[in-house]
Amino acid sequence: MKMYLLTTLCLLVVVAAQEVTELTSCKTKENNLRMDCKYKPTDPPTDVICEYRQDNKLMGSTDPKASPEPAFKNRANVTIIAGPVCRLSLTGFSEDKPKNNTCIIKQKNTASKSELVDAKKLATCSAFSILLQTSPKAMLVMTFLPLLLETLYA
Ligand SMILES: *[C@@H]1O[C@H](CO)[C@@H](O)[C@H](O)[C@H]1NC(C)=O
Ligand SMILES: *[C@@H]1O[C@H](CO)[C@@H](O)[C@H](O)[C@H]1NC(C)=O
Repeated sequence: MKMYLLTTLCLLVVVAAQEVTELTSCKTKENNLRMDCKYKPTDPPTDVICEYRQDNKLMGSTDPKASPEPAFKNRANVTIIAGPVCRLSLTGFSEDKPKNNTCIIKQKNTASKSELVDAKKLATCSAFSILLQTSPKAMLVMTFLPLLLETLYA
C-alpha cells in the first residue's frame, strides 16, 4: 500500500513536469504519415511554436518565417489542433529505412520528443486508435482506481 502511494506520487510528478506528453504516428488512408505530438500548455498560455525535424533537418514548422528543408517543402504540413496537439502531415513518405522524427514544442521552455518511425510497421490511423491513446489523465485514473477500490472495500 505504501509502495503503491509512492509510485503514484512519482508518476504525478513525472506527468506534471513533462511538456511534451506523447508522440504518436500512423498512416492515413491516403497513405500519408501523420504524427501527433501532445503537449502541456503553459499557464497562462503563451505563443507556441511547433516544429518537426528529421535527423535535425526541419520538416515543417508553425512559424511562417521558418524555412523547411527543400526535401520536405510542399510535403509537410504542421498545424496545432485541439488537445492541444501539434500534428504533422507528410505526403509521399518512403518506406525505406526507419527515420528518427522529433517533435519540438517551443513555449517558455523548449521540449521535444523523438520517435523512430518505420513506415513498414506503421499502424493505420483510425478513430479507434485515438481512443486507445492513453492521455496522462487516463493514466492517472487507471492509477487511482485500484487505490480507490482498495480504500472502499478495505
Ligand atoms: C495544412 O493542414 C491544415 C489542417 O488540416 C489545412 O487546413 C491546410 O490547408 C493545410 N495546408 C497545406 C499547405 O496543405
Ligand atoms: C533521435 O533524435 C533526437 C534528437 O536529435 C535524439 O535525441 C535521439 O536520441 C534520437 N533517437 C534515436 C533513436 O536515434
